[in-house]
Amino acid sequence: ITVYVPRDSAARSVGADEVAVAIAREAALTGTEIRLVRNGSRGMLWLEPLVEVATDRGRIGYGPVSPDAVADLVAAGLFDGADHALCQGPVDDLQWMRDQQRLCFARVGVTDPLSTEDYEANGGLRGLRRAVGLDPADVVAEVTESGLRGRGGAGFPAGIKWKTVAETEGELKFVCCNADEGDSGTFADRMLMEGDPFCLIEGMTIAAHAVGATEGYIYLRSEYPDAVATMRRAIELAYERGWLGDRILGSDLRFDLHVRVGAGAYICGEETSMLESLEGKRGMVRSKPPIPAITGLFGKPTVVNNVLTLASVPAILSDGGSAYAELGVDRSRGTQVFQLAGNIARGGVFETAFGIPLGTLVNDYGGGTRSGRPVRAVQVGGPLGAYVPAEQLDLPTDYEAFAAAEAMLGHGGIVVFDDTVDMAAMARFAMEFCAEESCGKCTPCRVGAVRGVEVIDKITGGQDTEGNLALLNDLCELMTDGSLCAMGGLTPNPVRSALAHFPDDFTANRREAR
Ligand code: NAI
Ligand code: SF4
Repeated sequence: ITVYVPRDSAARSVGADEVAVAIAREAALTGTEIRLVRNGSRGMLWLEPLVEVATDRGRIGYGPVSPDAVADLVAAGLFDGADHALCQGPVDDLQWMRDQQRLCFARVGVTDPLSTEDYEANGGLRGLRRAVGLDPADVVAEVTESGLRGRGGAGFPAGIKWKTVAETEGELKFVCCNADEGDSGTFADRMLMEGDPFCLIEGMTIAAHAVGATEGYIYLRSEYPDAVATMRRAIELAYERGWLGDRILGSDLRFDLHVRVGAGAYICGEETSMLESLEGKRGMVRSKPPIPAITGLFGKPTVVNNVLTLASVPAILSDGGSAYAELGVDRSRGTQVFQLAGNIARGGVFETAFGIPLGTLVNDYGGGTRSGRPVRAVQVGGPLGAYVPAEQLDLPTDYEAFAAAEAMLGHGGIVVFDDTVDMAAMARFAMEFCAEESCGKCTPCRVGAVRGVEVIDKITGGQDTEGNLALLNDLCELMTDGSLCAMGGLTPNPVRSALAHFPDDFTANRREAR
């Protein structure tokens, strides 16, 4: 009997380890022989810890299971997949799972993350096997054809970036994975690394072959200790299996991969700051150009991609770029791993083709707010993303449609707020966050963010509201146009959207009424 209890840190944070211990104990007490697999999370976080039992009807899920409920569950026939108040039925038949198109997350929650056998048995390595038999330029062409764009947030075409690195001369080239997932409301990078680490390793190795790199780094944030441990162990196993190192899969390809842990600065998720940090320096933003594709880590041509970009590559290579490009809308091709968070009834990850309306994700799959109150605003794309008002929830999830609505899709994080949210306080928070996290290199961001907090306080305090609103707008314009990187450049997004859609929240009368 195979029983699955996630070891994903979201599941662990609500007691999955204790549940696993209790299940092992009950199995011993009842003399039942079980194989306990610590899988990744299926992404239905409201059901965690989600225990699954393999049966001939498929994997039957139970959740959320508390350690105290285990004895009762076992007595009711958990190991046979019997019915129970916590029973969710076959997990693959749940609408949340059925309606997704999981390419990047195909194995997350399904396999044992550290089993190389499980990985191969579930489609792993197919992409790399095909890639090593192809000319590097053909691998780049396949990725270009797929339409894959950078999933870190900026949406730059991955194929063009790879082509630039491939065509730049260099005796040494690198592939760096940006796993410094700092955006609020995002956790897909973490779940992928904890739930299917070999997928990232495979994607990076394919990238290395495509551009002629021999060394790679995963820059992982210190707040993700489980992901660090899982990635490190997976890399060791990959070396043992000949998936990393010399003569990968019997080919001429050589690729060495290392994990480096950041020290907890949001700005180190900015690619040039991340490269500085990887070089052992303080995480300060570099001026661009030159772009990292030409002058990157230690001055060498470097691919810098987000976890989800690289983890999308194995499926593209195994099934073909054109199959991937069939999904999605306009210039947003393939799938996006949406992360539902904040005040939401059913939070978690939902991977589907681009184009699905924001409101479908928030209301249909997410079930609306957790508080049961009406949705007032949704922030998409992290702390630098705009607030989308409830009236605009029909917006399709498409990079360009979001840009046209003065919003951004970013890394796919969706944070929901109900009608009790004070949008002036959220605008203030954006400036405060920028002041806190600014690397300090350029004045519009370093000084502008501090002035931004002050001027919002004056507005909400009823001090020369009109004059200070004009000043705030000027300041936003200056930060957008004058900042060196996205930190200062995008901070005006949440502020401006709050001002545009919720102007009353900024006036003193309204604030008193609330
Ligand atoms: P960007 O638009 O400057 O660059 C995007 C990427 O394309 C970079 O890797 C850049 O080097 C590359 N690039 C640009 N021109 C190129 C060319 N001609 N050839 C090859 N490569 C080229 O955007 P940036 O500053 O890298 O990222 C900003 C985004 O980061 C924001 O939109 C935001 O959504 C996102 N973000 C994500 C966070 C997360 O936790 N995932 C945190 C903070 C921001
Ligand atoms: Fe540093 Fe802010 Fe300027 Fe970016 S915008 S370089 S974070 S000071």
